[in-house]
Amino acid sequence: MRRTLPLAALAALALLAAGCGTPAAGPSPATPASGSSSAAASSGAASSTAPSSGTHADPAALDVVVNKTRPVAPPDWAPSDLVAVTGSELPLRAEAATAAGDLLDAAAAADHDLTTLSAYRSYDYQVRTYGHWVDELGRAEADRVSARPGYSEHQTGLAWDVGDAATPACDLEACFGDTAAGRWVAAHAAEYGFVIRYPAGAEDVTGFGHEPWHLRYVGSAEAARVEAAGGVLETAWGLPPAPDYAA
Ligand code: DAL
Ligand code: ZN
Repeated sequence: MRRTLPLAALAALALLAAGCGTPAAGPSPATPASGSSSAAASSGAASSTAPSSGTHADPAALDVVVNKTRPVAPPDWAPSDLVAVTGSELPLRAEAATAAGDLLDAAAAADHDLTTLSAYRSYDYQVRTYGHWVDELGRAEADRVSARPGYSEHQTGLAWDVGDAATPACDLEACFGDTAAGRWVAAHAAEYGFVIRYPAGAEDVTGFGHEPWHLRYVGSAEAARVEAAGGVLETAWGLPPAPDYAA
């Protein structure tokens, strides 16, 4: 059965999601669980999922790529079709939320109890989360695990962090990939339109270490194509590696 975490736990976990792969941090700064903020009023807000733009630069399009060299533009862009993921108060864009619900149902049918640890995060929310990790780890290490504000894929509403309720110690840790639920996710996420955005061994391309819990919605046809091309979004879509920020 799927588990719904208390709001306070969700807030803490959502914060940790920015510090993927690091040991558990200390107390979190107070932040809203959903990351909702003034950014939601951005003039660039999207009300429905646009088809692929071809440029990979339109934050409203399913083919948008956000990485260390491709910030969200405009910086305060926010979707306007956010819908809570089943069993959670945390939202994704409507199409991604529906796909996430389908994935959760399929996982449950296979006896895996997946939890939603983080989903949409606004620019303002990422200011707090990134700042937290800089305070915890220093800027260099924070940049390996947490995106700077305006550079987080979570701001698109298409990125979703999942955990295994049976193995909470592996929430937002590399060991999630070795859990039964994590292995199921790796094997089946593409069927529901999600790819593992930060695969192992791809840090030189994606800019971030392995995050087996961080799923990115691209749609099922595209997810299959990305998997067939090796599983790294930048490579599959012909974009240059983004190992680091320009400055
Ligand atoms: N942990 C991912 C890279 C983020 O902060 O968006
Ligand atoms: Zn994530």
